[in-house]
Amino acid sequence: MFKIAIIGGDGTGPEVVKEGLKTITAASEATGLQFCTETFDVSGSRYLANGGDPTAASIPVITDEEIDALRAFDAIYLGAVGHPDIAPGILEQGLLLKLRFRLDQYINLRPVKLLEGVHTPLADKKPHNIDFIVIRENTEDLYCGKGGVMRQGTDHEISTQSMVATRFGVERCLRYAFDVTRRRKTEGYPGRLTLVHKTNVLTHCGGTWYRAFNEIGEADYPDIERDYNHVDACCMYMATRPEMYDTIVVPNMFGDIITDLGAAIAGGMGMAASGNLNPDSTANSVSMYEPVHGSAPDIAGQNKANPMAAILSAAMMLTETGRILGDKTSIDAGKKIESAVIQTCPRFAGQRMDRLSASTSEIGDLIAGKIAE
Ligand code: IPM
Ligand code: MG
Repeated sequence: MFKIAIIGGDGTGPEVVKEGLKTITAASEATGLQFCTETFDVSGSRYLANGGDPTAASIPVITDEEIDALRAFDAIYLGAVGHPDIAPGILEQGLLLKLRFRLDQYINLRPVKLLEGVHTPLADKKPHNIDFIVIRENTEDLYCGKGGVMRQGTDHEISTQSMVATRFGVERCLRYAFDVTRRRKTEGYPGRLTLVHKTNVLTHCGGTWYRAFNEIGEADYPDIERDYNHVDACCMYMATRPEMYDTIVVPNMFGDIITDLGAAIAGGMGMAASGNLNPDSTANSVSMYEPVHGSAPDIAGQNKANPMAAILSAAMMLTETGRILGDKTSIDAGKKIESAVIQTCPRFAGQRMDRLSASTSEIGDLIAGKIAE
C-alpha cells in the first residue's frame, strides 16, 4: 500500500493536487497500484487562523509532531504554500525549508524536459534539444542560514551569510547524480554528468565539490563522462545550446537559480515538477513532491490554474519513491501518468502553459482519460 500524505496548502495548491490525485486514481486502476491518502491541514491560512503573526514567525507553520507523523508515509504530495498577507520568509522557512532539512531531503530533483506541443521561448529549439535533469543539493550551501547581522539599521550594518559544503553532503549528492546519469544512459541518454559551480571565485566550497566530483567519478563511475561549467556559463548554454546537457549536479543556491531558468525554457511554471528526495530507503525519512510554482492567489478558486506541473510531480512521486522502495507497480503507475501528460500537451500547442484554454479540472479529466485508454 503506497501511503501518501497530502498537503494541499494555499491558493491554487489544493485545486491542482486534486487533479494530481485524479490521475493517481486512474493510474492505480490501470496498474493495480494500491494507495491511500491522508490530508494534513498545513498552510499559511492555518498559520493566520491559529493567531500566527503575519509580519514575523511566531508559531510553528508545521509542528514537530506533524513532521514525525509524516515519516510514517511513503511520500508527501504538496500543492503550494504561500499567502499574500504573510511576510516573505515565514512560510518558506517555516514549512518548505524546515521539511527539507528535518527530513534530510538532500536531493532536489528537477527535470527540464520540453514536451511536444509546449512552447519554448528559445527559437528553433525542439523537444529533443531540451531534455535534461538537474540534481540540486538540497540541505547545505547558502541555505544553512550560517551568519548574522550586526549593528542592524545603522550606517555600520554588517551581515554575512556563509556557503557550506561538507564532504559528506557533497559526496552523497554526487553519488546519487552519478547513479541517475548511469540509469539514464541505459535509457539512451549520453551518460554525461555536468558539475555546475563557480570554482574560479568560490575556491573553498568549489574545491570540495570539484575534487569530490573527480575522485568519485574516476574511482567508481569510469563509464560516466564528466563535464564542468561555471554557473554563469551554464545559464548562457541553457539558453543557447541546452542540448549539451544530460544530467547536471549543482549546489543548492545555484541550483535554485538555474532551475527557474530551466523551467522557463521548458514551458514555464505551469509545467515544472520537482521532488525533494531522501533516496536512502533505510533513513527515517520521507520524500516530498511539489510543483515548482507557488500558490497563485490571484487565480485561486477559479478553476484556472494549469495542474500539469502538479500532475507531473505526482508522476515523479510514484516513479522516484517507487525506485527508492523497489516497487515496480508504483514506477509503472508514475510512468503512465507522465506519458498521459506527454500525449495531452499537443492539443494545447500554441498556448501559454500557465494560462490554458481548458480549466484545471478539464485538464485533470483529459489526462486521467488518457491513462484509462
Ligand atoms: C524553490 C523555491 C524555494 C527555494 C524557496 C521558496 C525557499 O524557490 O523551491 O526553488 O529557494 O528553494
Ligand atoms: Mg526556486
